[in-house]
Amino acid sequence: MEDCNEEDLIETPELPLEIIVYILSFLHASDRKDASLVCRTWYYASQDSNFQKNVTFCFPASASSLELIRGLGGKSRCSLIIKQLDGFSMSRSLLLEVGLCLGSKLQSLALPGSSMTEASLLALLPRLTSLRRLDLRGLDSLFMSGAFLSREEHRQQVRSALLGLEELDLSDLRYLSDLTFNRLTGCTPRLRRLSLAGCHIAFEFDPYRGCPVGAVKASSALLSLRNLRRLLSEQNSTIVALDLSRTSITPESLRTIAQVQDLVLEELCLHGCKELTDYSIEVLMKHQPSLQRLDISACTELTSRSVKAVAQGLKSLTRLSLSRNWRITEKGLADLLSVSSLKSLDLSECLHVSGTEIVKGLTGCTAARAQLETLSLKSCTYIRDLAVFSLTQLLGDTLRELDLTLCVNVTDLSVHAIATYLQRLVVLRLGCCKEVTDWGLLGIVETTKSEPDEETVDKGPRFTRTFGNMGFFKPPRLPFEERPKLVTQNDLQQFKQQAGASLLALNRLQELDLSACPKLTDSSITQVVHYPDLRRLSLSMLPDITDASLASVGWHCRSLTSLALNHCPGISDRGVAQAAPYLHRLQHLYLSCCNNITDRSLFLLVQHCDRLQTLDVSQCKNISLTTVDLLQSQLPFLENVHYKFIGGADFSFTL
Ligand SMILES: *[C@@H]1O[C@H](CO)[C@@H](O)[C@H](O)[C@H]1NC(C)=O
Ligand SMILES: *[C@@H]1O[C@H](CO)[C@@H](O)[C@H](O)[C@H]1NC(C)=O
Ligand SMILES: *[C@@H]1O[C@H](CO)[C@@H](O)[C@H](O)[C@H]1NC(C)=O
Ligand SMILES: *[C@@H]1O[C@H](CO)[C@@H](O)[C@H](O)[C@H]1NC(C)=O
Ligand SMILES: *[C@@H]1O[C@H](CO)[C@@H](O)[C@H](O)[C@H]1NC(C)=O
Repeated sequence: MEDCNEEDLIETPELPLEIIVYILSFLHASDRKDASLVCRTWYYASQDSNFQKNVTFCFPASASSLELIRGLGGKSRCSLIIKQLDGFSMSRSLLLEVGLCLGSKLQSLALPGSSMTEASLLALLPRLTSLRRLDLRGLDSLFMSGAFLSREEHRQQVRSALLGLEELDLSDLRYLSDLTFNRLTGCTPRLRRLSLAGCHIAFEFDPYRGCPVGAVKASSALLSLRNLRRLLSEQNSTIVALDLSRTSITPESLRTIAQVQDLVLEELCLHGCKELTDYSIEVLMKHQPSLQRLDISACTELTSRSVKAVAQGLKSLTRLSLSRNWRITEKGLADLLSVSSLKSLDLSECLHVSGTEIVKGLTGCTAARAQLETLSLKSCTYIRDLAVFSLTQLLGDTLRELDLTLCVNVTDLSVHAIATYLQRLVVLRLGCCKEVTDWGLLGIVETTKSEPDEETVDKGPRFTRTFGNMGFFKPPRLPFEERPKLVTQNDLQQFKQQAGASLLALNRLQELDLSACPKLTDSSITQVVHYPDLRRLSLSMLPDITDASLASVGWHCRSLTSLALNHCPGISDRGVAQAAPYLHRLQHLYLSCCNNITDRSLFLLVQHCDRLQTLDVSQCKNISLTTVDLLQSQLPFLENVHYKFIGGADFSFTL
């Protein structure tokens, strides 16, 4: 946008609005906002309804928000996240204003961290006639008395507004009972998605009555399985997604839910349901074979038997999370990777997974295999270069997101393979891969380590730590360029002798985590972290990087919204001074334990980074409380400031 000046616009006055709208569609929302300030035509273009479908506004309940809400009245649709509402008059007038200005336009409403009264909410809900999604997560204040929607006239008003509600989030409500649940869901007859994560649902036995739950009638103290089952039956034709994570659901109760007649689930989240067994997953597969998205992470009893059941039972599976299921081994993963619809697989913290069966499933003789777009192998310490090599080749066409955090046995060879074969990556996480070095990122062979024969000495360039000019960043031809095959230990040896592509090749990256790879230095960071679209970068815990890295990142990665540099002692005010002028979009900055950062850096942030929302300067010995206060008063969006132990003292109170 910086190259666009008045003259260009004057020379092209007739550009039709549709064309400008089309051009603006390539921009991110925040850039579009900037673009709308250029001239009148661009402003009109930026107001096109195409851009407004999905605008979510997030703000605290405060006097200045009232103005904002009035300003939103011109939008055709919008979504709101309003934080920290309470029972006081400011919150009440805010909700009234929302009802008046946005009533028929609001698509989605979330009220996190609030403690509001029934009266305030009832003043609003009947006006929200277009609402599709309502998030009442954790709003205990609404349900504690048990009287919510107890009056028929209120229910009628709410019901006529919420007839079209599709998504209801009731997670983490401690006081939800059969009565309040029924009153509320009685107003929402066409739910598609329901979340009860973290609710106290009485699955088997009512401790208050000493009999099976709901055996007699709806309980005013508890939400019972029987009652939930009734809702699922009543709304069987619409409900497709259910979240029962972090509940104490038992195998028998899961069977009851899975068997609800005519219920066809596409999505089910059971994260952290520790009572579930392999058998209950087998039963689930039998009764709900249309599931596409399944989260059975942190269900600690599950073993590879569940993996097999899922692989055999779910023919349209697209997303599966098995994260933190420590008993899962390689067994069954080959079957899973033969499910051709699978696009996303989370195996993080499945500590026994080494990748061999994944590779086997992807190379299997059947034509069907998963076209994975995202893969997490975080904390799978048995993952080694050989597996990464095969995976990069097999998934090169599809993979967008790869998480190898804490795969401590992965080395530079894997990084070469990633840079060579996974050039469509958008997210790459290599945090704590402590063997990774500059050589890996630069895509070159560490000459000091190989024992070169005459020939390779003649051909291969030699590198010093300065790395000179960069003719070597083009990916060279590698073995197996023709078609994927299983990589052998021999191939790997051969690879060791060759240069790979540098990480520079991943020019679509939007997120990169290189934290706690302590061997990395300025030599690689300044040369390869040049990503115009990068949004999030972590270089925390890199003891050897200096201001040169920070300055380079600022210059080359101007889209950054989040930058983490915790525990980087080599970073000082000089680096901040060089980078901050280019980082206008920065929203989250983490600088804890950076002792060479002083108040001067904070002044630079005030000057250049006025979108800052989060700043962590805890344990920065040379930062003073006065300057933190000043920063707070100057930056309009700053919400979270972490500054424990600054100036060497403990100011552990929060703001
Ligand atoms: C709105 O955004 C969410 C993700 O934030 C996406 O899932 C949804 O499909 C979007 N809706 C529309 C209408 O674009
Ligand atoms: C499924 O829902 C329809 C209404 O959408 C209802 O008529 C039918 O009885 C329900 N089926 C069961 C088994 O409850
Ligand atoms: C990973 O490498 C470390 C050395 O860094 C070694 O001690 C350990 O045994 C290896 N772990 C596996 C699972 O291969
Ligand atoms: C940063 O501070 C450390 C002491 O914490 C000091 O040893 C080091 O020389 C400083 N580095 C720079 C670049 O100022
Ligand atoms: C931090 O403060 C100490 C004294 O408290 C001073 O000696 C040191 O030079 C300061 N460091 C920087 C980078 O300004």
